Amino acid sequence: MRDMPQDKSLDSTVELLSDAYRFISKRCKQHQSRIFETRVMLQKAICMQGEEASRLFYEPDRFTRKGAMPPTVLKLLQDVGSVQTLDGEDHQQRKQMFLSMMKPDSLQKLSDIFAEQWLLQMEKWKDKDQILLLTEAQDILTRAVCIWAGVPMTEAQSKLRRVEFSSMISGAGSVGLRNWWGMFLRNQTERWGQKLISGIRETQKENAQASPLEAIAWHRDRQGELLDVDTATVELINILRPTVAVAWYVVFAAHALEVYPECRARLMQGDSQYLEAFAQEVRRFYPFFPMVAGKPTRDFEWQGYSFKEGALVLFDIYGTNHDADIWKDPEAFRPERFLENEINLFSLVAQGAGDVVKGHRCPGEWITVELLKRSAHLLTNTMIYDVPAQDLSLDFSRMPAIPRSKFIMSNIQGLTQPVSEEQGAVSFDGYPQRSDFAFPGSPPLREAMGGMMQ
Ligand code: HEM
Repeated sequence: MRDMPQDKSLDSTVELLSDAYRFISKRCKQHQSRIFETRVMLQKAICMQGEEASRLFYEPDRFTRKGAMPPTVLKLLQDVGSVQTLDGEDHQQRKQMFLSMMKPDSLQKLSDIFAEQWLLQMEKWKDKDQILLLTEAQDILTRAVCIWAGVPMTEAQSKLRRVEFSSMISGAGSVGLRNWWGMFLRNQTERWGQKLISGIRETQKENAQASPLEAIAWHRDRQGELLDVDTATVELINILRPTVAVAWYVVFAAHALEVYPECRARLMQGDSQYLEAFAQEVRRFYPFFPMVAGKPTRDFEWQGYSFKEGALVLFDIYGTNHDADIWKDPEAFRPERFLENEINLFSLVAQGAGDVVKGHRCPGEWITVELLKRSAHLLTNTMIYDVPAQDLSLDFSRMPAIPRSKFIMSNIQGLTQPVSEEQGAVSFDGYPQRSDFAFPGSPPLREAMGGMMQ
């Protein structure tokens, strides 16, 4: 058995929290190893990165998420009783409920509602000196996902929900006041969600096909029982909140268009393959989740190292997405890499890796990619705007990271004619020349997604 490299400090919690995205990479470089052991919150933790580590970590049922995340993070993200905390057949059965919402016509509907809401909001932007894209995108996404999910909502409620979902997202990766505020608001969201689920069950006939809200309200577990109201609410929040989280990627897309203007020029030509590659590069390049935690479900040996059941293991998401063994010139923002090379199920890990049906890979990847593509198209083909002087540097001490200015835009004007239509390449109505949600050059990913997209 090999000895695992050991981090020297007595406890690394402070260092991890202050630079979570680069914590594992820096130490892997120091130890010249893809794996090392440290202590986090006085507990031993194995940290690992790279494609081999991704294959191990995302092997179905090799690691459980139960008890792996600190309760303050768990509560604001997936929460107790959610699909992420399940294992084995119970996990697969619940996962199907999420996957049933991801059929192409349903994704197209969400994308169209999103574009509609964006254009409505744009009417208001014309009268403003400047806007903060992060807040506006959160607003648009809250309305879009609620309409798509079949959640009834007034304008005032949608403002409240935006604040709640956004606070959960930015509170999860922080300690102290921001985390506490997210928790406080989440209680309010839960009470609202519980009323919704109970209301559906009391007033409507059972129909798990009608809308995502109804799919959750009427989902039955392996014993044929409806989910209890608290768990159904947790899962409802688990489709609404992460869709609002795509707002951070919308900002990253706008940031990329500003910092790498050659991308804007290509997107204006209406090349749908490039659009997809751009969305993938945004997910690879920009920092969202730094890492994910799991615990081995049994003792095993891997590459000569011993893993004990219940040990804390941290898999490095950001570091693997910037791993020079997988990505040539990883610190360059270059969408073309996705046109030139195949990605596999374990290399691009922004939303987990491996088999989406059997493992813990994110079921919201199609939504994320589709909304990212749609927002890149909207930003480049339906409007013009200025980006006034501001601090666009990324604040890596925040999780999710964000440009320090949160991306200010001014002088926004809608285009009566989409730019690329003028060029005869693509019409807005004809958007998006979709590549049926395939990931470029990646048949394995399509297969792993269970042929659902056929
Ligand atoms: C900003 C975009 C998103 C990011 C960065 C993201 C990231 C992730 C990651 C890293 C995981 C895997 C965690 C693990 O290994 O345990 C995950 C799981 C999950 N995500 Fe996402 N996600 C996003 C959007 C979405 C959307 C739009 C939805 C739903 C509509 C969603 C629902 C879920 C659920 C339910 C799980 C748990 C899956 C399981 O345990 O089997 N996510 N997400």
